[in-house]
Amino acid sequence: MHVVVAQTETPGEIIVELLPLEQQTRQEREERLIDQAQANKELIRNLAHEIKNPLGGIRGAAQLLELELDNRQLTEYTQVIIHEADRLQSLVDRLLAPHRRPHVVGDVNIHEVCERVRSLIVAEFPKGLRVVRDYDISIPEFRGDREQLIQAVLNIAHNAAHALTERIAAGDAQITLRTRVGRQLTFGKQRYRLALELHVIDNGPGVPDSIKDRIFFPLVSGRDGGSGLGLTLAQTFVQQHHGLIECESVPGQTDFKILIPLP
Ligand SMILES: Nc1ncnc2c1ncn2[C@@H]1O[C@H](COP(=O)(O)OP(=O)(O)OP(=O)(O)O)[C@@H](O)[C@H]1O
Ligand SMILES: [Mg+2]
Repeated sequence: MHVVVAQTETPGEIIVELLPLEQQTRQEREERLIDQAQANKELIRNLAHEIKNPLGGIRGAAQLLELELDNRQLTEYTQVIIHEADRLQSLVDRLLAPHRRPHVVGDVNIHEVCERVRSLIVAEFPKGLRVVRDYDISIPEFRGDREQLIQAVLNIAHNAAHALTERIAAGDAQITLRTRVGRQLTFGKQRYRLALELHVIDNGPGVPDSIKDRIFFPLVSGRDGGSGLGLTLAQTFVQQHHGLIECESVPGQTDFKILIPLP
């Protein structure tokens, strides 16, 4: 047995939990995730700024150099510099993105968020992929940033769709969007009476074992052409709602669970 002391939403009230050891490791893993995410965020922001400034100079110098070149063949090289500088610029812009736009708070209906994501995914993958809704429509609205949550769920659903490439070709790919109310859950070092559980479940091959522990870290990607930012951004956005994303994955069933406190 393991003892956890957590705050409740009522000031001055604490709750003492006795947990089996398996749950303790889950909780420790969560706390580690939150601390790591915070450290990551600062590192990324600083690094992105350091890259951004010289990058403009490099691109500008390559453009000036190009104007001076008489030899057409040599402009191939300056074009490489300009192209790569642009690529790095857009990566840096994505790294800085969550810090740019302010957190816009309004009433969020989670099923509107799910429906938006569903229609975007269906439009992008019209054949071979079924997107199943499994909603608990009794879930109340809560205060939050709708656009951020759409982006977070979309990033997760996109990953699922990418992981399903083979099944989409075979015609039996499936993504389920499931909403539930969780009761008396502890996450993010706090105990919540009610919390939204939004699952994005796919029947793909699962998260590769080699990166399973690190998928929420920036620049960790298991696929060609991936920049490894989708889940980092999703986790940042959900944490801004005092929530957390967890992942459980085995071949044939990958379940990303978004937890957000409900009023
Ligand atoms: N549903 C899933 N099934 C299998 N693997 C997954 C799934 N979701 C994520 N992954 C793995 O986690 C990695 C990290 O995902 P993340 O969204 O952070 O980056 P990315 O998809 O590679 O790039 P980006 O989203 O920035 O374009 C993915 O590359 C993939 O290997
Ligand atoms: Mg992704």
